Amino acid sequence: MLVRTRLRLAGALASALVATGIASGPAAQAGQQHHRATLADLAQRHGRYFGSATDNPELTDTAYTKLLGHEFDMITPGNGMKWYATEPQQGVFDFTKGDEIVGLARANHQKVRGHTLVWHSQLPGWLTAKEWTADELRAVLKNHIQTEVRHYRGKLYAWDVVNEAFNEDGTYRENIFYKTLGPGYIADSLRWARQADPKVKLYLNDYNIEWIGPKSDAYYTLAKELKAQGVPLDGVGFQAHLALQYDYPASLEDNLRRFSKLGLDTALTEVDVRMILPATEELLAKQADWYADMTKACLAVRRCVGITVWDYTDKYSWIPAFFPGQGAALPWDEQLRPKPAYFALRNALK
Ligand code: XIL
Repeated sequence: MLVRTRLRLAGALASALVATGIASGPAAQAGQQHHRATLADLAQRHGRYFGSATDNPELTDTAYTKLLGHEFDMITPGNGMKWYATEPQQGVFDFTKGDEIVGLARANHQKVRGHTLVWHSQLPGWLTAKEWTADELRAVLKNHIQTEVRHYRGKLYAWDVVNEAFNEDGTYRENIFYKTLGPGYIADSLRWARQADPKVKLYLNDYNIEWIGPKSDAYYTLAKELKAQGVPLDGVGFQAHLALQYDYPASLEDNLRRFSKLGLDTALTEVDVRMILPATEELLAKQADWYADMTKACLAVRRCVGITVWDYTDKYSWIPAFFPGQGAALPWDEQLRPKPAYFALRNALK
């Protein structure tokens, strides 16, 4: 047992050295041919996963899908499971995009995080164009959640049930659901999801909640209340869309820990670290440090179950389209070459 563990560790060390370019020579090359530990392998040694988002249009890029299928053990569909994609007309469901990604993940022995059931953004026109009564909208919401969750029942690791429910100041975001149904839409959504799949982990997910402040406090208070009321909530997802021109969220580890202490899982669900372009060596080094620090914070908290990057290559990052002049946010560059952030992730996972 001990010997076997030692051998495994020795093998892991050798392949890690090969991957970082430290080791060379015949033995190292043999090691490389044999097996180089992936981010998923390294995370698994800590009982964590390491995931990536992906999106359907990218799946024709074979160099891209090869790395996607190899390096990660968790996949999140970037768009394919959102409301506009899955219920384009009221009561007419289309799961082809999500199914394609679930099928690919399954072929690669990867798990899947479902994203997302209830969100103010990327809603279909039929839903946003109409004035709904509370009874009508409640029925629409319940049907959407339960039809989608039932479709993927037994196939997903987790669902981001409600996404981005709070404003920066910790007040509820006045989305169509809040305005029509009040704050109870969150508990209702979690209960409906649980009815449709008793096993999948149910999450609330948001950005700018990595540090302790008004927005993460709002989640902390809500999570505590939901737990006290017996509402099925399993975890909180910290998107972690960071930007080098702002501060690193130094309270991340403490923040993750306080949620853990409520009996919840936590996860970093959409990690990227953008910068104002052009990317310099200095900025890429700082970015690498931030990726490493986030990873260490998650590893330090027992119930931080894993990390997902919001796609893995700058080639397919959402950042340049949404934050003009910014980018270079992911651990692989546009040519699918690993950046300093990738090596920093490996080191942090060792
Ligand atoms: C983004 C996708 O990556 C883009 O392709 C899409 O155009 C917009 O949405 N927070 C979330 C994700 O929860 O769903 C968003 O994904 C990024 C921000």
